[in-house]
Formats: sequence, C-alpha cells, structure tokens
Amino acid sequence: MQIFEDMQKVFKDKFGQDAAQKYFSPGRVNTLGEHVDYSGGNVFPCAISLGTYALVSPRTDNKTRVYSMNLADKGVIEFDMHGLKYNAAYDWANYVAGTIATLEQAGHSAANGFDIVIYGTLPAGAGLSSSASLEVLTAVILNENFNFGIDMIEMVKLSQKAENEFVGMNCGIMDQFAVGMGKKDCAILLDCNTLKYRYSPIKLGDASIVITNTNKPHSLVTSAYNERRKECENALRDLQTVKPELKALCELTNEEFDEISSAIKDPIEKLRARHAVRENQRTLEGVKALEANDLEKFGQLMHDSHVSLCEDYDVTGVELDTLAELAWTVKGCIGSRMTGAGFGGSTVSIVKNAAIEDFKKTLENGYTKKIGYAPSFYVADVSDGTHMIRG
Ligand code: GLA
Repeated sequence: MQIFEDMQKVFKDKFGQDAAQKYFSPGRVNTLGEHVDYSGGNVFPCAISLGTYALVSPRTDNKTRVYSMNLADKGVIEFDMHGLKYNAAYDWANYVAGTIATLEQAGHSAANGFDIVIYGTLPAGAGLSSSASLEVLTAVILNENFNFGIDMIEMVKLSQKAENEFVGMNCGIMDQFAVGMGKKDCAILLDCNTLKYRYSPIKLGDASIVITNTNKPHSLVTSAYNERRKECENALRDLQTVKPELKALCELTNEEFDEISSAIKDPIEKLRARHAVRENQRTLEGVKALEANDLEKFGQLMHDSHVSLCEDYDVTGVELDTLAELAWTVKGCIGSRMTGAGFGGSTVSIVKNAAIEDFKKTLENGYTKKIGYAPSFYVADVSDGTHMIRG
C-alpha cells in the first residue's frame, strides 16, 4: 500500500530502521442520534475509511517516541511508558499517552515502549473522531504486543476513559465504540444505556454518504460540549424529583417526557432534555425506516435532527446551518444534518450518486459566498474497526 511505503521512508529517517507492524484505525460518521450517547440514548454511526495509519516497532526500553506526518512541526514526541500524566508539551500525543496511562491503571502495564509513525487521512477538527481513532489505535497496539487479551468493547471503554479523565473531554461512548467496533458496509445501532448493539447493513442503492467539512477554524468545542452535558444532568435531576426510578433522559418516550417536563425548572435545560428524548426516538424510527428501504423517511429524520440540534440544543452555528440549508435545496439530496459534537466540524448527507456533482457545486458556491471560505467534500466508504494489518 502506497501510504505505508511513504510512511516506511519517514520511519527509517526518524528512527533508523524499518517498522515491524502496521495498523489502521478508522474515523466515524454518525448518521442519526446526536448528543444522546451521554443521556443513555441510541446512536447509529459507522466507521469510515478515512482514519489513522500507524507503523510501529517495539523498543527494548520503556521509552516511547511518536511522530505524526501531519504535524511535522511538532517533531518526535517522547515519554516514558509508566506513570504518565497529561502534559501540554505532548500536544496531540496526549491521546496516545492517555490511553497508555489508562490501560496501566486498569492493570495492563506495558513491558516496553515503541517507536511509532502516524499518518492521518482524517481532516483535523472535522468532527470525524480523529482523537477516538488515535485512542483505540493505541489500545490495540498494546493489546497486540503484550497479549493482554482485552476484548474490543473493554478497549473502547478504556479509550473513552482516557479522553474523559486524561484529556478532560467529557464525551460519551459513541466515537470510541464506532471506531473500535466498526464493520464494513454496516452502521451500528448502539444503545448507550446498555451497550447492546447490532449491525445494520447500509443499503443506499444509487446513493452515497457525503461528508462536508465546514473547515471552520478551531473552536472551543470541549468547554461548550461539557456544558451541554451538565445541562442534561441537571434536567435529569429535576425529572427524578417526580420520577425517582429514571436513570437516563432517553429512557423516556416523547409522551412521557411531555407529561413530566414541567419538573425541569430551567427553560434552557428543558429544551436540551427535549432534544435528547426526541432524538433518541428519531434514531429508532430511522433504523426501522432504513431497514424497510424507506430512504426518504430516513432523510426527513436527518433534517428534523438538524433542526432540533439547532433550535433546542444550540450546537450548530452559522457554518453548519448554511451547509445543511443549502443541501436541503438540492434535488437528489435525500437527507442532510450536522454530525458529531457540532460547533463547526462536518455535515453528513445522503446524496444520489447522479446528484453529487450538483450537490458539491451548490454547497461550495453558496457556502463560500456567505462564510468567506470553501467547504471540503468526502464520499465516505464504510469501513472495519481498528485492526493490525498482517503480512
Ligand atoms: C462527540 C462526542 C460523542 C457524542 C457526540 C455528539 O463526538 O465524543 O460522545 O456525544 O459528540 O453526538
């Protein structure tokens, strides 16, 4: 594979030998079920073929050296494998260090370090889970080398813990789950309350999944994200005063929520909770529609999801709204919405293959005119989860 050949040259240049192992870890795109994973809801993401490639060689000491071809200016970043703490100087490699530290705390201590070269095809800041991709990748590298025997779902949980506790982003489980458990040509219906999941074949006929990146420069996603999470926790606490057995917002149907929602004192928190409950129901309806080949219904639910994320959850912003609104005008665009955390990042759209060129032209022209710079487009292939590439 050309990518690995190019990476081998860099590996040799940085570390003086050929790498012994190859890995790939995907990114993810979520089709329905946004901002519900931490409220115990159902999500419907898939792993994509854009992701993180790694070349790895074990070392004989406890040192790890990592180099990203995408962030060459950061140079080779070095740390010891044991007792790792968050360190601003590690920069992007905190996702690697955090996962190593989290595995160690869980009793999986590494016997040696590694030399690692990374090359990512995921655009940075696009909301396609480059961080989860790197975390699950690190867990898989350690698991393969030390025969820890950790199953993928446990690695997914440890990767989420690394992001929550080491990096400080209070994310739910969706991204790491989609990255680790992804399956070619399937989306995953995951109940984040129970972690029960099943694969559902993505059968789009003559249509494709198109990702459109707003290219919005870096925004303060982490603080705004953690604030939304807090608002949902507050709303849940209020609802528990009238329904003490309630464990998560998404246990409620729309009707049950409407009956007791007056218990939520803060009007903003009420809107946040309303989004979570309705979005969860939309996901369940959407999977049913897709499995019955009713793409039009799925597209309508994607539209409704975006409107709710804009009006009730307030995580879209002018860039994502502009992309979605333009997409809705394109004949042959079946559905379009923001995907991921929001506040920038990307939209996901289902577009008839014959309409993709028109879709790109309409969005590029309209968006550039309004926002002042162009978006980027990727047609997504649905991929397998993180794995070592043997041979
Ligand atoms: C980010 C988080 C996920 C999820 C989405 C929103 O991607 O990492 O856990 O909450 O936002 O659905």
